Amino acid sequence: MKPYVFITRKMPDHLLSELYEVAEVKMWEHEDIPVPFDVLQEELERANGLFSLVSDPIHSEHLESAPHLKVIANMAVGYDNIDVQLATKKGIMVCHTPDVLTDTTADLTFALLLATARRIPEAARYISNDEWKQWSPYLLAGMDIHHKTIGIVGMGRIGEAVAKRAKGFDMNILYYNRSRKEEAEQQLGATYCSFVELLQQSDYVVCLAPLTSETKELFDEQAFQEMKNSAIFINASRGGLVKESALQEALEKGIIHGAGLDVFAEEPIRANHPLVQLPNVVAIPHIGSATVETRDAMVKMTVQNIIRVLKGERPLAAVNLKELGV
Ligand code: NAP
Ligand code: GLV
Repeated sequence: MKPYVFITRKMPDHLLSELYEVAEVKMWEHEDIPVPFDVLQEELERANGLFSLVSDPIHSEHLESAPHLKVIANMAVGYDNIDVQLATKKGIMVCHTPDVLTDTTADLTFALLLATARRIPEAARYISNDEWKQWSPYLLAGMDIHHKTIGIVGMGRIGEAVAKRAKGFDMNILYYNRSRKEEAEQQLGATYCSFVELLQQSDYVVCLAPLTSETKELFDEQAFQEMKNSAIFINASRGGLVKESALQEALEKGIIHGAGLDVFAEEPIRANHPLVQLPNVVAIPHIGSATVETRDAMVKMTVQNIIRVLKGERPLAAVNLKELGV
């Protein structure tokens, strides 16, 4: 009998052909609606493999009623939506999709920085609202990017790719991680500093660290207070790293100058979200890795991760390999 794999969202069929060969596959047949809690729970009573998304919380209730589950393959590099500790305890491999999305997400992160600093969405609205009457010296004047200081919190795969882009803009690069990246320091001219030093010195503070118990609400009142009044905060990792009420206050009171946000504490957000209402915020809907090429690559990698684990082979990327003794 073939193993049973459940996919939590409608995926392009042509990318699943290899999976169809080795498994019985069922897909939640909606592109824009997440699978309801009870449907997922019911599917997991039977499933050997799960193809999940960042928008699917896979928590204890699910895992406790998943007696046959061998692999959860998240179509994302981040995996904070999954209770990895419990999965590991139950012997379930948790896979993800690093590397294939690094450059695409770095492009978007840098685009968000440019868009926020140079007020591009506001400028586009200016024309579509038919407000442009004549050229004026300070019309929609923004902030320079070149030769300014960028501070990257979370200098991992995407952080380094953002630093590479910043180097091309002649920026001074600071970074903060728990560990030093000496190769990046040499190749990119990046300087390691403490979190507080980074906040105090950066014109652009870019958040690219994962959401963990350690990083939850790392950007709170105190963090925004440390930043320059002229600083722009960019978040392309997870909304949970930010205390949103503190960010709102910092933006309203001029404690910082602006923010570009791809991610939010609770997603999706609506147009009436307090941060979206602010004129100095550019908000976009978690599209860091959203190009057709990269999303295809992520689907393919997720499929390969599932197939490999079901065949008893080593997956392309998993977060609990060591803990499972693989
Ligand atoms: P990565 O290579 O693992 O990089 C994460 C970096 O964060 C590491 O260098 C790590 O270094 C650092 N870090 C971990 N905990 C930290 C802490 N407590 N304080 C400071 N730094 C810490 O991951 P990646 O591939 O670059 O992806 C990063 C994150 O981006 C993902 O976790 C995901 O949440 C987010 N992401 C978002 C999108 C989007 O659509 N917006 C797309 C892709 C990824 P140390 O371990 O040395 O501290
Ligand atoms: C997207 O947010 C990811 O973690 O890949």
